[in-house]
Amino acid sequence: MTTGDERRQETAPRVTRVFSGMQPSGELHIGNWLGALKTWVRLQDEYPCIFSIVDLHALTQPYDPAEMAGRIREMALGWLAAGIDPERCTVFVQSTIPEHAELSWVFSAVAPLGYLERMTQFKDKAKAQPENVNAGLFTYPILQAADIAIYRADGVPVGEDQVQHIEFTREVVRRFNNRFGETFPEPAALLSPAARVMGLDGERKMSKSLGNHIGLNDDRETIWRKIAPAKTDVRRKRRSDPGVPEDCNMYAWHRFFSSEEEQHWAAEGCRSAGIGCRECKEVLARNIDAELAPMRERRAELERTPGRVEEILAAGTAALRPLARETMLEVRERLGIAGRERYEGDA
Ligand code: TYM
Repeated sequence: MTTGDERRQETAPRVTRVFSGMQPSGELHIGNWLGALKTWVRLQDEYPCIFSIVDLHALTQPYDPAEMAGRIREMALGWLAAGIDPERCTVFVQSTIPEHAELSWVFSAVAPLGYLERMTQFKDKAKAQPENVNAGLFTYPILQAADIAIYRADGVPVGEDQVQHIEFTREVVRRFNNRFGETFPEPAALLSPAARVMGLDGERKMSKSLGNHIGLNDDRETIWRKIAPAKTDVRRKRRSDPGVPEDCNMYAWHRFFSSEEEQHWAAEGCRSAGIGCRECKEVLARNIDAELAPMRERRAELERTPGRVEEILAAGTAALRPLARETMLEVRERLGIAGRERYEGDA
C-alpha cells in the first residue's frame, strides 16, 4: 500500500539543477521576496543554482538605456542583501552569455505559435503598453525557455504568474527532443507558499509598475506610511464591526510575516472586533520591518565595498559560459548545422 507521504514523493519533481531569473525593472518588492527570492535563498543550500538578471527580456518594455546598468546593479545588490550567496550559487547577467539568444532562435523553430498566442502575460503586457506591442513581447517565453534549457536546469523557482511560461518551456523542449533527440530535461516550476502576493490595494497582484508594493529597501517609516491606509476587510467600517480575516489582505500578509500566535491573535481579534485594523497593522508593519532590517544592513555594507557586485557578476559569467557553449555545440550537432570544428574554429 502507498502512504500519502510516499505518493507525495512520487509526484515531487526530481531536481538536479535550479535556474531562475528576474527582470531588472528596478526596486525589488516583498512579492518578489516571498514568491521567489526567499525560495532561492533556501535552494542554494540544496541544489546547484543559477540566478540570472534577465536584461534581454527587459528590452521588450519601454526603458531608458542610460538607466539599465544602474538597474542591473540595483537588482544584484538586492539579491545579495536578501541572502543570495555567490559562494553557494552562481549569479550573472543574461546578455553576457550570447548562447541564450542563440538557443532562443533555435527554439523559435519548434515553438508552436498557437501556444504563444494563449500566454496571459503577453496579453496583459500588450494591454499595458498598447503603443509598444513589439514582437519580443510575444516571443518572450521562447527566450525564457532557452534561459532554462541552456543549462539543462530542471527546477525553476518562480511565482504563480510564471507557471504558464514554465509549462510552455516543457512543451518546447519536448518538441525539440522529439524532433532532434533527447537533449533537454523537462523543467518543473517550484512554487513557494506565497506564489501570488497581492498588493497594498488588496485587489491586484503586487507589482512595482502598479505602485502597490512594499520595497525590500523600504525603511520602518515608509513601511508604516504604506500599510496604515492599506485596504482591509470592507465589512469593518467601524472599530466595533467584526470582520472576516480570510477576506483581508493584511491578514494574508500576517501569514507570511507573523508568528503563529500573532496570526491567531489577528484572526480572533478581527472576528470578535476585539482589536482594530490599526492595531493589527501595527504588529504586521513591525514584523515586516524586522524581516527587512537585516537586508537593509547587508545592503549598506555591500555598498561600502565598491566593485564587489561587478566582480561577482563577472565570476558568474566566467563560470557559466563554458556550460552554455557546450550545450550549443551539442544542439548544433543535433540540428546538422556548423558544429564543433567550424564553429569552435573561430572562437
Ligand atoms: P519577474 O521579473 O516579473 O518577477 C520575478 C519573480 O518574482 C515573482 N513575483 C511574484 N511572486 C508572488 N507574488 C507577486 N506579487 C510577484 N511578483 C513577482 C515572479 O513570479 C518571478 O518568479 N519572466 C520572468 C523572468 C525570467 C525567468 C526566466 C524566470 C526570464 N527568464 C527563466 C525563471 C526562469 C519574469 O518576468 O519575472
